[in-house]
Amino acid sequence: MLDIKKIRNDFPILSREVNNKPLIYFDNAATSQKPISVINSLTEFYSKYNSNVHRGVHTLSMESTDLFEEARNRVAKFINSKNSESIIWTRNSTEGINLVSNSWGRKNIQPGDEILVTAMEHHSNLVPWQILADINKAKLVILPINNDGTLNLDEIDTFINSKTKIVSAVHMSNSLGTINPIQELCSKAHKVGAKFMLDGAQSVPHIPTDVADIDCDFLVFSGHKMLGPTGIGVLYVKPEILEEMDPFLTGGEMVLEVSYEKAKWNELPMKFEAGTPNIADAIALGEAIVYLENIGMQNIRNHEIELTEYALSKFKSLDKLTLFGPLDPLIRGGILSFHSEDIHPHDIGTFLDHEGIAIRTGHHCTMPLIRSLNIPATSRASFYIYNTKDEIDYFINTLGNAIRYFTDVK
Ligand code: ALA
Repeated sequence: MLDIKKIRNDFPILSREVNNKPLIYFDNAATSQKPISVINSLTEFYSKYNSNVHRGVHTLSMESTDLFEEARNRVAKFINSKNSESIIWTRNSTEGINLVSNSWGRKNIQPGDEILVTAMEHHSNLVPWQILADINKAKLVILPINNDGTLNLDEIDTFINSKTKIVSAVHMSNSLGTINPIQELCSKAHKVGAKFMLDGAQSVPHIPTDVADIDCDFLVFSGHKMLGPTGIGVLYVKPEILEEMDPFLTGGEMVLEVSYEKAKWNELPMKFEAGTPNIADAIALGEAIVYLENIGMQNIRNHEIELTEYALSKFKSLDKLTLFGPLDPLIRGGILSFHSEDIHPHDIGTFLDHEGIAIRTGHHCTMPLIRSLNIPATSRASFYIYNTKDEIDYFINTLGNAIRYFTDVK
């Protein structure tokens, strides 16, 4: 059991009001709130350590380099990466996927090869592969989903075949909440000699993640969805693959030796980190990880299973709503996407906001998926460590009021 009261006290924003109502923050899939330790880490960096990394012999530079590399080590330990050279700082998951599709993809995907993604991918795990397939004359294949929002694996051995060179799949869908059987996808990819990339943007903040156990070749996630700041993300790459990859961006920091004619790349992971990195935010992400580890990732997952189960049972009391995604909380994260034929999601979002409740409405950067559901958009509530059953009660009650307000014939 998490001590939610204690956790909530660590998040200053949770004590504010919105429209004269206590804030209920249910937009965690878009970005999470930040604990005071993360906020303090940012101000402390700029007031005590601010200086560039890997460049100076002066004290400040050495201190900030130590803190920056310590954060990298924390990330490595958090996802059970054997070494920290496999941890590349990016801006976010999107940048990580672009790095892989450019650096690994352009070199390794041949004409006629297949790239497999699922039908529930975020645009960030779809568009980079569309571009790569176009440039390298490969085929982008989409693994379909079932009506309950799970992956359709009936013909998985046809979808993952000898032409497949990479399978890139989301772990937890940001639109449906579905948790995919990534271990199975990964081992099937490896059986045909393909690489496996995991989009952990929604899962790494909520589920224990072990790259050694999954055996994924690439993993991406974003700091801002896991209590850290915006503008910092992580790409994990297996060391043997990293060695073979060419840099994505070039310039300062990523070189060892430069002449007017050519350049020699720096050691890993700097080879993939051109220019001055996002030092303060990387260090603050390290603090966010300390916070999450103190609670325990399995405890966080258990709390969210409990909240999801509770919310799913409460949803049954609401008429005129379709809820998307699997109904089993063990294969679903704390994400509830729903739609009413009679009400536009933006109207629901505005009504709830008026009562202090923040949710997201729209296509959630998964336009093809939302179109396949034959709806314009969904309303989405998403939970995290500081959310409570009382908040869910208030949300369900307010949602009921919204439905009555918009659908009752006056
Ligand atoms: N990808 C984020 C979301 O699902 C922004 O809302």
